[in-house]
Amino acid sequence: VNPETARLLEAYELTAKLYHFLLKNTEHGKAAMEYLRSRGIGDKLIDQFQIGYAPNRWDTLVQFLEKREYPLEEMERGGLLSERSEGQGYVDKFRDRIMFPIHGRSGKPIAFAGRILGEGQPKYLNSPETRLFNKGRVLYNLHQAKNAIRKQRQVILFEGYGDVISAWDQDIQNGVAAMGTALTENQALMIKGMCDEVILCYDGDRAGQAAAMKNFPILEEAGLQVKIALIPEGLDPDDFIRKHGGERFRNQIVDGAVTTTKFKLINLKKNHILLEGGGQIAYSKEAVKLIAPLSSPTEREVYLRELAAEVDVSFETLKQECNEEREAMK
Ligand code: UTP
Ligand code: MN
Ligand code: MN
Ligand code: MN
Ligand code: MN
Repeated sequence: VNPETARLLEAYELTAKLYHFLLKNTEHGKAAMEYLRSRGIGDKLIDQFQIGYAPNRWDTLVQFLEKREYPLEEMERGGLLSERSEGQGYVDKFRDRIMFPIHGRSGKPIAFAGRILGEGQPKYLNSPETRLFNKGRVLYNLHQAKNAIRKQRQVILFEGYGDVISAWDQDIQNGVAAMGTALTENQALMIKGMCDEVILCYDGDRAGQAAAMKNFPILEEAGLQVKIALIPEGLDPDDFIRKHGGERFRNQIVDGAVTTTKFKLINLKKNHILLEGGGQIAYSKEAVKLIAPLSSPTEREVYLRELAAEVDVSFETLKQECNEEREAMK
């Protein structure tokens, strides 16, 4: 390896250990510790995910790295420090934040996500892209989840760090998250290298549902079978688990995840008002257009029957509509 890369990798490892120590063992970390407890994150999870705290000072890390003779300009390029806005020199990039190390495949920290305590912007401050960290090529928690993913032949893809951590706390160890909601082809192929099925488990808000709609085709194009978990409006998986427990999360959310066709149909329905005849006709026709391209006659029949139960149109008529649609597609 390139010597600068090797130094940076070492520096990240030491920094993660420093922040972890400061959280657990010092007065500086007290408020952060309380915040984590208030969110149900105790010592076991703090250790498991190597969670830490970056103190509310300008030079904790600067001093730490300087003493160990790491070149500060390298550390700035590496995303651990920032240039002073006035004058020369460097300051700590992360201050007064709860630090979630992001580990590479080998299990070594290569970036951080720093969460503010409570409200404020940005909620998460993430490391920039560096020679170690390309966010489109990393999945949070993959280093710990890969065995479970292979064994269960399934991955659960979450939106956030907290979702992965809460799930882990309930012995759901095949959970990972992309950094933010953007998913890349590379991440999809990483998953495909380990298993064939993805449960897409995004937040039950507009942004989460829009991200699910945007991202499932990327996973399907990588050859993965995708199901989409439906989280009740206003909750994210972390909230759901804290509110209803792991058992219900498993039975209701994971096992109840729907096919991407069903997900599209559910969204279509949300966008139509079915009260009057006009809405029903438009909805039925658009739903049939989603169902018609499916190659499996069984799948088509199941969805058409479900649709028939929802609208005042018989299964036979919908099937005829569907067949005509298929003729037109040829
Ligand atoms: P959410 O806003 O859903 O955050 O963003 P969350 O994980 O539920 O956060 P908590 O529970 O309030 O702590 C989902 C993910 O989007 C990225 C993070 O990866 C986050 O986990 N994100 C969000 C950022 O990178 N920066 C932000 O400011 C916000
Ligand atoms: Mn520890
Ligand atoms: Mn969200
Ligand atoms: Mn969330
Ligand atoms: Mn959350």
